[in-house]
Amino acid sequence: MPFPKDFLWGAASAAAQVEGAWNIDGKAPSIWDVAGDHIKNGETCHDACDHYHHWKEDVALMKEMGLKSYRFSISWPRVIPEKGKVNEKGLAFYRNLIQELKANGIEPLVTLYHWDMPVWVDQEGGWKSPKIIELYLEYVKVVVDAFSDDVQYWMTFNEPQVFIMMSYVMGSFAPFRHDVLTFKNHLRHMLLAHGKAVRLIRQIAKTPPKIGLAMAATTYIPDGDTPEALADAMQKSFESRVGEGSNGLYGDPICLGRASKMLRRKLSAEDLKIISEPIDFIGVNVYQPSNPMINKEAYEKENHPKNCMDWYVDGRCLYWTIRQYWERYHIPVMVTENGMAAHDTVSPDGKVHDPERIDFLHQFLPGMKRAVEEGIPVLGYQHWSVMDNFEWCEGYGPRFGLIYVDYQTQKRILKDSAYEYAQIIQTNGESL
Ligand code: NOJ
Repeated sequence: MPFPKDFLWGAASAAAQVEGAWNIDGKAPSIWDVAGDHIKNGETCHDACDHYHHWKEDVALMKEMGLKSYRFSISWPRVIPEKGKVNEKGLAFYRNLIQELKANGIEPLVTLYHWDMPVWVDQEGGWKSPKIIELYLEYVKVVVDAFSDDVQYWMTFNEPQVFIMMSYVMGSFAPFRHDVLTFKNHLRHMLLAHGKAVRLIRQIAKTPPKIGLAMAATTYIPDGDTPEALADAMQKSFESRVGEGSNGLYGDPICLGRASKMLRRKLSAEDLKIISEPIDFIGVNVYQPSNPMINKEAYEKENHPKNCMDWYVDGRCLYWTIRQYWERYHIPVMVTENGMAAHDTVSPDGKVHDPERIDFLHQFLPGMKRAVEEGIPVLGYQHWSVMDNFEWCEGYGPRFGLIYVDYQTQKRILKDSAYEYAQIIQTNGESL
């Protein structure tokens, strides 16, 4: 079975990482705008790629690559700068962007929350307080009312594992807290907000919606192909507690209405009913397997390649993530992120040669093809990222884009990998 004709070959970004214009046209600050010294080299996300002013040119570049979809997020503080107030200028930016995408035949895939919580919501308690559920739903209602004529694909959250664990337990992501003892409450608030948002979107969307969320998938690649090895890998991927939190801790309540051991006392039967409101797809963000977290020595012995973030590059994890998510949840899968960072530079010929990223595409994407050939419903692939951008606390050092961005001049250049990806899209994956 080849890739379906309507397979969504795309690329992804997030508001705080690309938009800039942090205090323009009525936008209020997000928790990332005030991250201060937590960001490397004194950098900020205040200007980023200035996509807020370059959106038209950026959509033209997406068109040049032949993208069928673009996954981006809406900035909550741009739309709701203070409690109860809607910022029409903020909505106008997204309306223009969405209409430009549609006019170019590119499907908008909208993430409602990609970590940039308004500072005013944080001051109300952020994920620590149950109040955030209603505040989030009010925001979602404004966005869905405004754009559901044109938008069909919605993601309630991006990588909850990260914005709960890293932000409130490890304290390494904004708002940099260590609420270790109460983190299960935060997690419960997020899960309830997700379930209620799914129900709300389904009720009010003007076109039949397809709703999901993007998970930080940390997958264990089986140590062999015996049934025992496969079962052991599933257990490690969904029931152990490696990395940013296991897939099952978040995925089981949402997709199966079942709480993992850790949350059993936290979630009531009523909670689980709300949280497991049916979704249409499960998004997976795929970067590296969890094997090296469990068995680092084996990876080090092999001298396994790493990217400039020190992340292991192991192409097998795309196939295994898709397959394991499908086997556990039986919900169509969308690859909502997959990509790699490098220190790309402009060569004297004015081009950006990034052979590692081309290699990366050819290491990872055949696994997705295999999954499709095995009959697993995969809806699309969104490469991270459409353009170089603000990599959170790492600032602008690591470059993840298919499009190179010169942050001084805001000039864009399609990297070699962008042309390679365009080829793959043109053949609908047959060239893989
Ligand atoms: C996942 C996050 O969703 C995205 O914001 C981030 O830039 C990439 N991983 C790369 O770290």
